[in-house]
This record gives sequence, structure tokens and C-alpha cells, in this order.
Amino acid sequence: MTAGKFEMDGAAFRAAGHDLVERIADWLDGLGDLPVAPATTPAAITETRGHGGLPDEGAEPGPLLARAFDLLAPATCLNAHPRMWGYITGSPAPIGALADMLTAAINPNVAGWNGAPMATAIEEQTVAWVGDLLGYPAGGGLFTSGGNAANLVGIVAARHAFAGDSIRAEGLRGRRLTLYATDQCHAWIEKAADLLGLGMAAIRRVPADGAARMDVAAGAAMIAADRTAGMEPFLIVGTAGTTAVGAVDPLPAIADLAEREGLWFHVDGCYGAPAACLPDAPADLLGLRRADSLAVDAHKWLYVPLEAGCALVRDGARLKAAFSTNPSYYALTGAEEVTDYYAWGPQNSRGFRALKVWLALQQAGRSGYREAIARNIAQARLMFAAAQEARDFEAGLCSLSIATFRYVPADLMARRGEPAVAAWLDRLNGALMGAVQRSGDLYLSNAVISGAMYLRACIVNFRTGDEDARSVPARVRAIAEPLAQEMRGELAA
Ligand SMILES: Cc1ncc(COP(=O)(O)O)c(C=O)c1O
Repeated sequence: MTAGKFEMDGAAFRAAGHDLVERIADWLDGLGDLPVAPATTPAAITETRGHGGLPDEGAEPGPLLARAFDLLAPATCLNAHPRMWGYITGSPAPIGALADMLTAAINPNVAGWNGAPMATAIEEQTVAWVGDLLGYPAGGGLFTSGGNAANLVGIVAARHAFAGDSIRAEGLRGRRLTLYATDQCHAWIEKAADLLGLGMAAIRRVPADGAARMDVAAGAAMIAADRTAGMEPFLIVGTAGTTAVGAVDPLPAIADLAEREGLWFHVDGCYGAPAACLPDAPADLLGLRRADSLAVDAHKWLYVPLEAGCALVRDGARLKAAFSTNPSYYALTGAEEVTDYYAWGPQNSRGFRALKVWLALQQAGRSGYREAIARNIAQARLMFAAAQEARDFEAGLCSLSIATFRYVPADLMARRGEPAVAAWLDRLNGALMGAVQRSGDLYLSNAVISGAMYLRACIVNFRTGDEDARSVPARVRAIAEPLAQEMRGELAA
């Protein structure tokens, strides 16, 4: 038997592996001094990568891995950096990187219990632990690629619970199934409505208030009107932490409405659900415990590396009913008492995403998560307060661990409502976001609040220090002042 060019014996694996681990360990130690994001261009990136074609001959793994590290590390927006707050991607716990290496080496295919009995058992325990952390009574669930997929799983279960097997067999056949969410719901909902053949028009947008939270009474009126018009409302979606401003919908009131109307209640907790582990979590957030299905993104605020989403359902049987097809060529166990995850979700072959979450949950424990999540929330408030105190910043909204604010030159503060000034401030803050991102010092994104452009920080980062958060106005000001000076000419006197 020959292993061709693929095998690495123990000695070769050790050598290449140790070298790579050394590089990563040094990089982790020096993270805080690195630029948060590369100041680069598409042309420079492809030039550095090179334009070589597929090699005919193979090469040694060690140098290949070393080059891959050298290419990636300086040319990536560093989610692990203490001042990375642009997107909702968690600072990754290093144990997750080691977990991914372990699972890639052993390579369990967590499709069926037969092929991966221990991985299946660990995934089941991890789902139960995530539920336990949040106080959600999970009857079942599974890991997915991320939040889009975890939400999709919930919606498929909802559709099946409402329409039964006929919808799986025959499709919609002209039925107009409708679902309800605000326009603050993440764009996964459009993909889900599209993929399920419901059509994006099936999404009925319930108005949100000034704090981006669902107006539940308006939702109730829409549902009633839609029923009269011959539509079939089947699902209402509440968001526990909106992407833009971290708003938490009034989840208990939505749960009440869903109960009255016989709708499935799904909560997108991809970002904010982990805050439900806090002893002082607000009642609106704790309403997620009444959901029929809940999506959580472990690669956001549970601090594990990409990819790890988690779909949880109150009644585990709902997943199997919604997804299983029992193909004749794939009789894995047929035993009722074991879990075959291929029958619980959209994937067949499945990697072992749960392992990194299982390990991180044990490394930090409930207390470690509570402490880190509470700290991120406190840091968002620190940042927000610092913006409120500064003469040249206007604070926007602060919810969960998201703070929004914008730069307004002090002499223009009183005039910021004038249309020409407001338009200029939008342009300035848009340009400022780009300049901040290129600065390498900190990384912010944007949120549009009541039509105005704000900078946005989302702290899902256990490496952020309090001083990092407090120093934001000063750091942003250093970039904003020269930019505002440069752009001042555009502002009519
Ligand atoms: C509230 C919310 N839901 C869903 C998603 C989508 O998650 P993913 O990017 O993991 O698919 C996001 C992403 O930021 C989000 O903020």
C-alpha cells in the first residue's frame, strides 16, 4: 500500500505541526500590537498571493503551511484583536483553534451515530449546555454553519409544524403562508423565505419603534388583517439583539401574541441570546425562553472560532419530522434511541463543530461566560458614556454590547439639525468609518439611526480592556479632526 504524497508520518507531522503552533503562539502573544485590519488593496492582495497555476508536482507540507501563515496573518481583519468591534464575530478562544485541529485530524462525520458515536453524544451534550446557559428548555437541536443556517432550521421546523407533511410532499400549491418580523431582522429571513419557496413578499414587516423594537400591537393588527385577506400567518420572529443597534424585541409580548394566534415563535438570538445567562438579564431578553425555536451563534458571543451556529428547538421531535427523508441507501442505524443528525437538519455529512463549543464552555464555565459577557456590556456603556461626555461626539443608542455614536465638530453641534450640515455629517461619518478601518488602531462599522449615519462598535471580545473602550472618542478624534478639516470645504458656509 502506498500513501502517495498525502501521508505525513509522526515525525513529519510533529515537525510541521510544532512549527505552526510556534508561529500561532507568538502571534497570539503579540496580537494587541498588530494592526486590527490590513491597509491594503485587492490588487496588492492578489499580487502577494501570486498568480501561479495549479502545480503539477507536490511540495513539502512544512513550508506550505509556513507560507499560508505568512499570507493570512497580516492580511486579515483580526477578529482576535482587543479593539476589533466592527462586526459581530467573536474574539476566538484559542482552545477552539486546537479543537478544530483535533476534530480535523480524527475527522468524525457527525451525520449518523454509527460513524461518530462519541461526537454525536458530545454534540447532544453541547446543545443541552447551550440551552442550560441561556435557560432555554431545549428538547433538541444541532450545530450549523452559522446564524443564517440556524435560523433556517427554525423556520423549516415552523413551516412543518404549521402545514404538516403535505407541504414537504407537494409544496405550497398556491397557499400564502406569511411570517412576521421587523425590518431590523437580519437578512437571513429573506434568504429563508426565498429558499423555502415562500417568497420574500411572505415576510410581513411589523413596524419598529424609535429604539428598533417591535411594535407588537401593530403586529397583532397586521396578522388579523392578513387572515381576513386569505393569508395564513404561521410564524413570528423576535430578535434578541439586532445586528445594527443590539435592540431586544419585547419577546414576552411576542410570545403572548404567538400563543393567542397559534403561531410558531422563533427567536433570532444569534447575537444577543448569550446575555440571557446573566443574573440581571432583562425580562424582555428572558422571553427567549418561551420560543419554539432559537438560533444562537457560538462564533459570536460564545467566543469560538468560525464556524459554529446552533439551532435549538423546544420539542426535539419537530426537527426530525421536518427534515428526515429516510433514504433507502442510507440506513445508518434505524435505532430510535440514537441521534442521526443527518435527519435533523439540512446537512448530510457534517463536521464536528460542537467540539470547540463543548471545550470552551468547560474552559470558562458558566461563571467565565457570565463574567466576560457582563464585561463586554459594561464596556459598551463605558464607550457610550465617553461619547456622551465628549463635546465633539453625538451618542446614538446603546443596547447589549453595541454602542453607536458619531463625530460632530464641536462648532457644528448646535447646527447639526440643519439639512446641509446633517448631510455633510453623514458624508463625514461615512468617510470616517473607512478611515478608522484603514487606521489599524481600532475597527468600527456603521449603523443608520433615524436616517443618520453613526459609527457602531459591537463588543463580543473577551480581549477588550476597559481602557480600550474608554479611549474610543480620543482614538476616533485623532482620525476625524484632519478628515473634517479636509472635507470642510464641501460644507456651504
Ligand atoms: C442578529 C443576527 N442574526 C443572524 C446573523 C447571521 O449570522 P451568520 O453570519 O453566522 O450566518 C447575524 C450576523 O451578524 C446577526 O447579527
